[in-house]
Amino acid sequence: MLASRAKLFFSCSFVFLILSIVLALWGFPKIVSKQIQKNVQIEESSQMYDKWLKMPIPMDFKVYIFNVTNVDEINEGGKPKLKEIGPYVYKEYRERTVLGYGPNDTVKYMLKKHFEFDREASAGLTEDDEVIVINLSYMAAVLTVNDMMPAMVPLINKALEQFFSNLTDPFLRVRVRDLFFDGVFLNCEGDNSALGLVCGQIRSQTPPTMRPSEDGKGFYFSMFSHMNRSENGPYAMVRGTENIRELGHIVSYKDKDSMPNWGDEYCGMINGSDSSIFPPIDEANVPERIYSFEPDICRSMYVSLEGKRSIFNMSAYYYEMHESALAAKSANPNNRCFCKKNWSGNHDGCLIMGVLNLHPCQGAPAIASFPHYYLASEELLEYFAEGINPDKEKHKSFVYIDPVTGVVLSGAKRLQFNVELRNIPSVPQLQAVPTGLFPLLWLEEGASLPPSLQEELQASHRLLSYVEAARWLVVAAAVLTVLVAGVVVARAINILPRNNNSVSFILSNGNGYKG
Ligand SMILES: *[C@@H]1O[C@H](CO)[C@@H](O)[C@H](O)[C@H]1NC(C)=O
Ligand SMILES: *[C@@H]1O[C@H](CO)[C@@H](O)[C@H](O)[C@H]1NC(C)=O
Ligand SMILES: *[C@@H]1O[C@H](CO)[C@@H](O)[C@H](O)[C@H]1NC(C)=O
Ligand SMILES: *[C@@H]1O[C@H](CO)[C@@H](O)[C@H](O)[C@H]1NC(C)=O
Ligand SMILES: *[C@@H]1O[C@H](CO)[C@@H](O)[C@H](O)[C@H]1NC(C)=O
Ligand SMILES: *[C@@H]1O[C@H](CO)[C@@H](O)[C@H](O)[C@H]1NC(C)=O
Ligand SMILES: *[C@@H]1O[C@H](CO)[C@@H](O)[C@H](O)[C@H]1NC(C)=O
Ligand SMILES: *[C@@H]1O[C@H](CO)[C@@H](O)[C@H](O)[C@H]1NC(C)=O
Repeated sequence: MLASRAKLFFSCSFVFLILSIVLALWGFPKIVSKQIQKNVQIEESSQMYDKWLKMPIPMDFKVYIFNVTNVDEINEGGKPKLKEIGPYVYKEYRERTVLGYGPNDTVKYMLKKHFEFDREASAGLTEDDEVIVINLSYMAAVLTVNDMMPAMVPLINKALEQFFSNLTDPFLRVRVRDLFFDGVFLNCEGDNSALGLVCGQIRSQTPPTMRPSEDGKGFYFSMFSHMNRSENGPYAMVRGTENIRELGHIVSYKDKDSMPNWGDEYCGMINGSDSSIFPPIDEANVPERIYSFEPDICRSMYVSLEGKRSIFNMSAYYYEMHESALAAKSANPNNRCFCKKNWSGNHDGCLIMGVLNLHPCQGAPAIASFPHYYLASEELLEYFAEGINPDKEKHKSFVYIDPVTGVVLSGAKRLQFNVELRNIPSVPQLQAVPTGLFPLLWLEEGASLPPSLQEELQASHRLLSYVEAARWLVVAAAVLTVLVAGVVVARAINILPRNNNSVSFILSNGNGYKG
């Protein structure tokens, strides 16, 4: 009687043990990851949804300008001396407008950015500062004509003198606010056929930096006004309700599932997210690369896994931009298709490390690089007398990702815009200047999780660690129950002596575990 009850107790406790192990190894993690998925997927009921729709805190948008300090020397053929000024800090607000849900678990939306100057963070710099920079729009016009029909250049330059008022050299004296947002006026009025050609070229290529004036008489050139307030998209993004590892991936942009600009299937691939949202990281299978799609440069970029690092007292995966991303095609043959177009007489688009010709993307001969030619060929540095000092800590692009939720703890994207300054003997303004890649400015788009959200995240991590502890406690309890049951059974069939101290100790305490 006693023995059979003891056996029943043992069997039950054994079943409990099996159940708790299954639960601990499979059930709990499943439930937890389901809960996390519910909270991060893009759906009205998820915790992340509101933050996704409207970023709760603005990002930092910082611009550093290369002020040219020896214009006269450069005009005589001297090496440029530059002085970096910045950061000019703007708050970048982002808002999404959902257009609807699409097939394959996607959501379609428009993205709207909005910038506000942050006087305090800009520490003494104002938008009224006067700077001297390379005249990007002028160089763009001259280079375009020079590459299309070199014989036309002297003629075109006559026209440009009308187009660009007070054209004396390839440099632009400008107020910072005009360079960034308000714009510098370019006059298209006039009965000059060459002028018509330049303006027609701009009209047909519609570079984002050229904003037609309201009266239709010309254009305003500015670097960022097209980003402010205008809706961009539509984007189609994976919502992660079916497969959480796909969360945030962009599958189409402007209703195309690849970028046509590069004329190549590989280079046109739209990979990864818009870098504001990432899927949780599977610790058993940590991705080596994380992709993000950058519409401003018409391509996907990636950061490479560096390892696990602690930030804000949390453990995160740290990714950094690797030099292979903008490598010369000899170093990374995959980059071949990004060099469809030569950007200089001397350089086929990808012979040189660390630059990306944006011509196919923006319709203007702008060249992207990392700030101060970080990770780029040293040959580029030789062009300057001073002012270009690549520095990993200041100029790298990176991201820290919380593996549990995929939330970005801290990250920065840094990119520089350049244009070639080319010696063209038939153009008076360019007949003595040295030929080389000339930087205009670089920008940093970054964000760090603010303390309030850090605490929120830490609280949810703590909760998870309790759940984690609970799952092993249950197993421990089950093991103990089995042990107790084992002893009871053993005693019932008289294998163990009754008066063993340690066993009676277990038994007298063990009763509590039965329930
Ligand atoms: C930029 O350099 C010029 C001289 O080359 C100087 O007059 C001007 O004040 C500088 N701008 C700023 C904002 O420092
Ligand atoms: C959905 O996914 C399938 C398989 O990946 C693909 O063939 C199909 O084109 C996708 N549908 C749309 C509308 O993108
Ligand atoms: C962006 O646009 C808004 C509204 O048109 C304007 O108020 C704001 O000043 C602009 N931001 C910048 C930095 O020009
Ligand atoms: C052009 O130069 C003239 C005389 O040097 C000056 O009065 C005028 O304001 C300048 N115009 C512009 C747009 O800089
Ligand atoms: C440079 O180009 C601007 C237009 O972007 C033009 O108005 C200006 O006159 C040029 N600057 C100089 C110094 O030639
Ligand atoms: C896009 O992603 C695929 C697979 O993840 C990768 O093989 C390819 O190199 C990426 N393409 C680009 C242009 O980065
Ligand atoms: C980091 O965590 C440790 C222990 O968890 C704690 O003692 C310390 O105060 C925390 N530091 C910060 C800056 O939160
Ligand atoms: C680029 O320039 C090189 C050498 O100057 C030339 O061999 C090549 O054909 C050019 N490529 C294109 C696409 O123009």
